Amino acid sequence: MEYFELIAARYSVRAYRPDLVEDEKLQAVLNAARLAPTAANRQPIQLIVMHTAGHEEEIGKIYRRPWFVQSPIVIAVCAISSQAWVRESDRFNARLIDAAIVVDHLILAATSLGLGTCWVAAFNVEAARSVLRLPDEVEPIIFTPLGYPADEPGPKIRKPLTELVRYEHW
Ligand SMILES: Cc1cc2nc3c(=O)[nH]c(=O)nc-3n(C[C@H](O)[C@H](O)[C@H](O)COP(=O)(O)O)c2cc1C
Repeated sequence: MEYFELIAARYSVRAYRPDLVEDEKLQAVLNAARLAPTAANRQPIQLIVMHTAGHEEEIGKIYRRPWFVQSPIVIAVCAISSQAWVRESDRFNARLIDAAIVVDHLILAATSLGLGTCWVAAFNVEAARSVLRLPDEVEPIIFTPLGYPADEPGPKIRKPLTELVRYEHW
């Protein structure tokens, strides 16, 4: 899929078919995440691939929407703050930007392979930590289901460029 078609085709999929995701597609999507740039190439991100079959109840505690565990796979994107680049002037830590780029790479690669995803930030952090058995230094940032869509995209509601872009100064 051509890039501009791809970014127009991606949408938040909130219904999934039970069909399994082929391992080659899963590996391709994970490799796209691997290729994402990170600040100073620190790569402070870890991905956890969860297979939902037989674990719907447990994984469902992380985010209580039926569609979250309808997909055969849920991926957690985690960050390790101490491994991330920190800006010297104000100690800004780049882990959330790094994680967002990794998620975007992963999600766009999935879209190009006909797979659906949905950014999920509104998860229960305590449940996520417990289900994933995360060590203290590992922070869950974003989850996404990964599977074949069972819904259709709605209209793209976005601000027009005139409300988004300024030129030369504020
Ligand atoms: C950082 C981030 C967090 C999000 N968290 C959630 C979420 O917890 N649950 C959900 O259903 N959608 C979530 N979304 C999806 C947005 O609601 C969605 O991207 C937005 O409404 C635009 O729709 P589209 O993705 O279909 O283009 C999140 C998106 C982003 C970028």
